Amino acid sequence: MQDTGRFDTLGRLEDLPQDYRDELSANNLVPLWPSLRAVLPPHVPTRRTQPTHWPYAKLRELLLKAGELTPIEKAERRVLVLANPGHGLEKMQASAAMYLGMQLLLPGELAPAHRHTPNAIRMVVEGEGAWTLVNGEKCPMSRGDLILTPTGLWHEHGHDGTEPVIWLDVLDLPLVYYVEASYHEEVPSQTVVPGQGAKAYARGGVVPTPVFGRSDKAYPMLRYPWADAKAALLSLGEDQPELEAVQVTYVNPETGKDAENILGFYALMLRPGQTQRLPARSPAQVLHPIEGSADVQVEGSAFTLAEADTCAVPGYTAATLTNRSATEPAFIFVADESPLHRKLGVYENRG
Ligand SMILES: [Fe+2]
Repeated sequence: MQDTGRFDTLGRLEDLPQDYRDELSANNLVPLWPSLRAVLPPHVPTRRTQPTHWPYAKLRELLLKAGELTPIEKAERRVLVLANPGHGLEKMQASAAMYLGMQLLLPGELAPAHRHTPNAIRMVVEGEGAWTLVNGEKCPMSRGDLILTPTGLWHEHGHDGTEPVIWLDVLDLPLVYYVEASYHEEVPSQTVVPGQGAKAYARGGVVPTPVFGRSDKAYPMLRYPWADAKAALLSLGEDQPELEAVQVTYVNPETGKDAENILGFYALMLRPGQTQRLPARSPAQVLHPIEGSADVQVEGSAFTLAEADTCAVPGYTAATLTNRSATEPAFIFVADESPLHRKLGVYENRG
């Protein structure tokens, strides 16, 4: 006799007569109880995202090979996708909501103008002379720069330099695709509009206010130069030497909210020799050292993230980062699904 109101063992599909199951299928019906525990597991969600490490040295070698094998005209975007094996490589997902791609642009190449519903950012990994034109604003691309190409904004990439340029794309494509809202449009090219948001918003605490007017742009700042983010981290670390984590968030300077709607972007400084624990939070996250390296421990996995390596950490999972250098800080770019989880009301920090 049940006196707790709890049912420990639920019926299985094979417990049902075959003719009944066939009749359900014929009427587009499915019994819930055989799958109930799978979709609502106790306490911790089922996560396909696995701790995964993509070393840059190998990725770079294969990406440069793609530059020889596939001309830009045959690729449009010459990208190798960092696919999490937990989702199946063909799904091209780093996590439930994040897509990661490493993109190569060779000197003189142009990735033509388009716009799409998924939000994207670029984290520049190497090379000089490339630029991204976003709704007419020309954003130079240097190592560590973060460039937004949010939903609906036209963007194209060009390269006036002499060496290959490589950057990391982070998109919310898996989520937008899942909700059946992913599509793109094309235009021949854009007209360059003078001015750069990065310069207009170069100092924290003040924003452009022509005749008391505030910008009504949804994305007033499109390029976040690494030099500025790094200076902010160094200054924060110097000002507050006891601070547990020296970390900044990339925000919309007009609203103070996250720079994009679905994914969050951060930069973290590990002092020489510092070990930093990132708590178990509901969103999955991606780590990518801009300068320096870090040992990472996550669940049963451990790997060393060299400069420009990338790794994925599942949600509800703590990660411990250690900077083994005794003399140099390490600077880590972090992307996560926090804005999405907060908007859905499912964000948790379990400490
Ligand atoms: Fe794009």
